Amino acid sequence: MTTTATRPGARVRAAIAARTLRTDRWWLAPLITVIGLGGWVAYATVRVFMHDFYWVEDYHYLTPFYSPCITDRCIPEAAHFGTYLPGWWIIPEAAFSLPLLLLFRLTCYYYRKAYYRAFWMSPPACAVPDGHKTYSGETRFPLIFQNAHRYAFYAAGLISVVNTYDAILAFHSPDGFGFGLGNVILVGNVVMLWAYTISCHSCRHIIGGRLKHFSKHPMRYRAWTFVSKLNVRHMQLAWITLGTLALTDFYIMAVSAGWFSDLRFIN
Ligand code: FES
Repeated sequence: MTTTATRPGARVRAAIAARTLRTDRWWLAPLITVIGLGGWVAYATVRVFMHDFYWVEDYHYLTPFYSPCITDRCIPEAAHFGTYLPGWWIIPEAAFSLPLLLLFRLTCYYYRKAYYRAFWMSPPACAVPDGHKTYSGETRFPLIFQNAHRYAFYAAGLISVVNTYDAILAFHSPDGFGFGLGNVILVGNVVMLWAYTISCHSCRHIIGGRLKHFSKHPMRYRAWTFVSKLNVRHMQLAWITLGTLALTDFYIMAVSAGWFSDLRFIN
């Protein structure tokens, strides 16, 4: 096999004993990623298998971690799209959306960079050696499936529509229309989810890729310009949406469990 070191004319690494010459805190970003992503996954796992405190009956708040609610254990009012699966403990209420969202985030270009660096140390940072002796990129099983990201994007768009529907239904109170702090949180989460989804690199390519002349496609050019502005914030939106998802879920759990009441502005 031809490697970088054996390829004719290839440069080899200078004979430096130190693993890296970097003296800054290059390890801080991977460490923050491990803590942030690890903590979020732990919280989400506990919540998904709690099978409780996901619905606020008075205000029709449904947490995104349980949407769409499709097992026969779902509270009937929370099952907006029907129940199709048995209510076994191992099956999450959102058994349709969670795997697709997991696929979307796992194959996201930003998250790939983040977890390759933080969890796989491949490499942990620029100018820091890889934690592994060999490197095959994403050309082989299983990482070749990272190419499925473009398809996961369509699924994530569909689930964002469902989340938007949930947020609209939540303008409810026992007297009819209602508006509270829960609505602000639900709508804020949905707006951020759309921003993250639209800022996806695949979305940018779908909208503006493979065009020879932007001048002949002014609408697509405008859309591409808008998506490009969001795209440069993709990393921030990836983290912000983890925050808004956890906040939305925690708030609905707290109100549902009776830890505190929803702050109501109207009804
Ligand atoms: S690149 Fe991150 S969601 Fe598509």
